[in-house]
Amino acid sequence: MRYLLFGASGLLGQQIVDKLSGCKRDVSGAAPLAEASLTAPASKDADLRDHAGVRAVICDAKPDWIILSAAYTDVDGCESNRELAFAVNCEGALNVAHAAREFGSRLLFMSTDYVFDGSKRSPYEVTDPKNPTGVYGESKACAEEQIAKVLPNVCIARTSWLFGPGGKSFPATIVKLAASRPEIAVVNDQRGSPTFTVDLAGALLQLCQASAHGIIHVTNEGNCTWFDFAVEIVRLSGLDTAVRPVTTAEFPRPAKRPAYSVLSPQSLNSYNVHLPSWQDAIRRYLAQKIS
Ligand SMILES: NC(=O)c1ccc[n+]([C@@H]2O[C@H](COP(=O)([O-])OP(=O)(O)OC[C@H]3O[C@@H](n4cnc5c(N)ncnc54)[C@H](OP(=O)(O)O)[C@@H]3O)[C@@H](O)[C@H]2O)c1
Repeated sequence: MRYLLFGASGLLGQQIVDKLSGCKRDVSGAAPLAEASLTAPASKDADLRDHAGVRAVICDAKPDWIILSAAYTDVDGCESNRELAFAVNCEGALNVAHAAREFGSRLLFMSTDYVFDGSKRSPYEVTDPKNPTGVYGESKACAEEQIAKVLPNVCIARTSWLFGPGGKSFPATIVKLAASRPEIAVVNDQRGSPTFTVDLAGALLQLCQASAHGIIHVTNEGNCTWFDFAVEIVRLSGLDTAVRPVTTAEFPRPAKRPAYSVLSPQSLNSYNVHLPSWQDAIRRYLAQKIS
């Protein structure tokens, strides 16, 4: 299987590269993962906004699967840069979709829980209506709709609350703060599913191998608030820092966050892919970090 990855330097992209590393380049024919090949251009060589550049990269690689993980992910930044958010996340994604159709490649597009408004109190199914409340979510929701028109068999993987090695992530911030302060304050009125990039990368490759299509929700099992997540991180790190629950209103941010964005695993499980719980995932992440 030939893969082309946009967004290789990102939190998720690094783990996809890692899963596919050691695989040979240019192996042809149906191949198991170990014999897959990967092309992973840097963003400077393949800016999603450059239609001709994106087309050239896809033409050269002629991949079986394109994984589109690249995005403008600064949720607050998107509020003041609407044009850039749509240029990268929607029009840029469409550039990839058009070239994928031209060269007969399958596309796996990474999307987000931010396409929902967070007003539900039971896990979001893939059939639930989208209603983003911020520019980032709007740009991703727009991409989902436009891409599906170009590529009806696209696979759209929505995920949430990513953490992992190789970049800024919530657990690393909590460990750092908790190690230097007697008490930390963490928001307790937003609920979601923390997702380990290592587990997510593996699941995405399983979905490609299963020739998945349509919208699929891909997160670690279970859910919690940011406060619950922080308490578990502090506990597993062996620290005795107090964690104080606070409200979102006490920490105003430019972009509104969904109060509830738990994604149902039903669509993922229908491909017989199951991810471990977030508690298991954070334990493995911290063990890796400490060792
Ligand atoms: N992080 C989360 O909690 C979360 C939650 C739900 C969904 N998602 C989605 O999951 C995907 C991966 O997220 P992530 O956290 O791994 O992202 P990330 O760490 O912010 O990485 C973003 C990647 O996109 C690349 N990029 C940005 N602008 C680009 C452009 N104009 N052209 C080409 N490449 C560009 C970056 O390249 P440079 O490093 O060179 O800038 C980087 O490789 C994204 O699609 C995101 O929307 C993330």
